[in-house]
Amino acid sequence: MAEQPKQPSADNTEHLALWGGRFTSGPSPELARLSKSTQFDWRLADDDIAGSRAHARALGRAGLLTEDELDRMEESLDELQRRVDDGSFAPVEDDEDEATALERGLLEIAGDELGGKLRAGRSRNDQIACLIRMWLRRHSRVIAGQLLSLANALIVQSERAGRTVMPGRTHMQHAQPVLLAHQLMAHVWPLLRDVQRLVDWDKRVDASPYGSGALAGNTLGLDPEAVAHELGFSRVTTNSIDGTASRDLVAEFAFVAAMAGVDISRLSEEIIIWNTQEFAFVKLDDGYSTGSSIMPQKKNPDIAELARGKSGRLIGDLTGLLATLKGLPTAYARDLQEDKEAVFDQVDTLEVLLPAFTGMVATMRFDSERLEAEAPTGFALATDIAEWLVRNGVPFRHAHELSGACVKIAEGRGQELWDLTDADFVDVFKDFLPADKAPKVRAVLSSHGSVSARNGKGGTAYDRVVEQIGEAKSAIMPLATFAGSVSDGPAYKAPGSF
Ligand code: ARG
Repeated sequence: MAEQPKQPSADNTEHLALWGGRFTSGPSPELARLSKSTQFDWRLADDDIAGSRAHARALGRAGLLTEDELDRMEESLDELQRRVDDGSFAPVEDDEDEATALERGLLEIAGDELGGKLRAGRSRNDQIACLIRMWLRRHSRVIAGQLLSLANALIVQSERAGRTVMPGRTHMQHAQPVLLAHQLMAHVWPLLRDVQRLVDWDKRVDASPYGSGALAGNTLGLDPEAVAHELGFSRVTTNSIDGTASRDLVAEFAFVAAMAGVDISRLSEEIIIWNTQEFAFVKLDDGYSTGSSIMPQKKNPDIAELARGKSGRLIGDLTGLLATLKGLPTAYARDLQEDKEAVFDQVDTLEVLLPAFTGMVATMRFDSERLEAEAPTGFALATDIAEWLVRNGVPFRHAHELSGACVKIAEGRGQELWDLTDADFVDVFKDFLPADKAPKVRAVLSSHGSVSARNGKGGTAYDRVVEQIGEAKSAIMPLATFAGSVSDGPAYKAPGSF
């Protein structure tokens, strides 16, 4: 049941309303226009038909459809699905929402008598609350797979980076040298946490509201548990009002989507800066860069910029949704219809962004020589001097001062720390160290020495980073199983298969 984007079509099929008994007229054209949601909710059609099949069986088991009626109902729903798939059935102007449209389609196929029986014991309120869960659960696996592919591309780059050192920065200023791999892996962990959040969210959303009716449950002896299992849920919501009225789980998904957007935006910002002429740390592949219509020399990091820009819209979707939810009475209100566009937009945005972004990351090339040359500059080894002094018995407060004095001398001369003479070190350290000891500080004045000294758990020493990469790969395994459990086939791509 591959999900295709479905386009509503307009024709003049007669209006079908799901109510009418107490109304003397149909909806005004203004109301109809406002009320209409098929332009965005038609993408729930496949899930709705799956729900209808499960509901029909529940009606059958409750004795409300005969065996023959159930057979004909299932055939009609199959036919409806075929028509939806090939586009011969689509919403018309007068259909209020996807449920109204599908009911019209079923009546056309099954006839009013049989088709009219399906609505018993369910409401669009429990239906829609269930459908958004089904749809999001499926797409959460696609997005998880895409996030893992990106994490994997970063891991491959980290392995390729090997022992390459680069300037580590705080406040954007040179701080301490770090391995390029360590910096890249710092972007892997947030992405893995985003996927872990989806896995965790899935446990909460794994409950079907079908059977909650409009708000209070159903009187027809239907078995919501069987419906839940048929729709891939392991349980039923335990309160019918909560089941139909809460959207915290939609908002929680929206948070994870926004957070993933923010995580990708942070990496984008690095790539954009590293890709400038001044930094020149990284080159982007032509296939993942754009040119300028006026300046022939330009090669722009548009994917990273679009990612940074789109994170704003992902956040906007979340905040809009939360604002919609905040003042609602606790049972279904029509405001809840506004939940869908927010998350549809997030899913569309991430599903189109992530493959392009991953391609850019997988194909970018670092200039290791330049990174190595820049790594120790800007007095980035000053902490190493201070810590070497501490290892030689100098209290850190003084060690910090002495190292600062070295920086001051070098800065005054327009030099780097390793340009200081033995006499300089002897002089600066004279109150704390003997003259023969002082020049030995040179041993720590290299970025590789600095990096390998940081060998505590989580540090940037090569061995620790190799260990870290191993841990990331093990963390990915269970997450890849989640991402692979999507009916359209595995979304997670193994190493090297971007
Ligand atoms: N289209 C609505 C939604 O998306 C469901 C319809 C519920 N309408 C109603 N009048 N109870 O939330």
